[in-house]
Amino acid sequence: MPRLAVIGFPVGHSRSPAMQNAALAALEIGEEWSYGAVEVAPAELEAKVREMAAGDYAGANVTVPHKEAALALADEASEAARSIGAANTLSFAAGRVRADNTDAGGLLAALPTTPLDARALVLGAGGAARAVVWALVGEGARVEVWNRTATRAEGLCAELGGKPVSDPGQTEYDLIVNTSSVGLRGEDPFAELPLSAAGFVPGQLVVDMVYGDGAGPLLGAAAAAGATTIDGLEILVQQGALSLELWTGRAAPVAAMRAAARG
Ligand code: ATR
Repeated sequence: MPRLAVIGFPVGHSRSPAMQNAALAALEIGEEWSYGAVEVAPAELEAKVREMAAGDYAGANVTVPHKEAALALADEASEAARSIGAANTLSFAAGRVRADNTDAGGLLAALPTTPLDARALVLGAGGAARAVVWALVGEGARVEVWNRTATRAEGLCAELGGKPVSDPGQTEYDLIVNTSSVGLRGEDPFAELPLSAAGFVPGQLVVDMVYGDGAGPLLGAAAAAGATTIDGLEILVQQGALSLELWTGRAAPVAAMRAAARG
């Protein structure tokens, strides 16, 4: 009976169990496989992961605050996980722990077309930004990174590519991705980020990695201006689909996962 879980601290808010159990049911393997939530404090992470890998777990998703530590404790890691410096997916085989990062592929899967040559603005320079910048640079986008603390954007670009920008011209980008946590606690994105509500243009693609109640104003303004929008829940669905494919080797039932995540 292979088990799966999301590991976090806290983890109670996670939509992954509902989404992944819906996926297992749609694949008709919900009788054998199960997906739960494991709350573990940072000090206990490694011991817990080793116990899961030695037991009946096939893999796990990893969320805040464990993504960097999950990579560090793994026996092997994908190029994406190593480059990004974080793992959101662990796979267990013969007690060994393999680290992957499907956040990057999940973003690309959520985009309607390849970002090759697209002029992209990434807002933020934390862990979420690292996956986004790595993904977009790898696909040949022309990436610029703005961050409240400019030195972090400079450091991220020096490591992963892209160009730091201090005063981005909102209308000039094909793609704008908010990876900052602005909106998570109800902050006004147009007060905190170098964007104005009226400054989006038709044909732009605007992604907000924040999901939950705060995701509204940024994407609402973008949609009102005729831009195409993608919310953080869609990115969650796509990263989860890629993780599920790694564990099961089956094509993920994305529509069922989306319905469950939004339900
Ligand atoms: P994560 O790993 O989820 O990306 P993080 O490393 O804490 O989280 O990064 C949060 C990002 O949101 C950072 O880019 C942060 O900017 P700073 O580097 O200047 O701290 C950004 N952020 C958080 N609150 C913000 C705010 N009120 N205005 C602008 N940016 C903000």
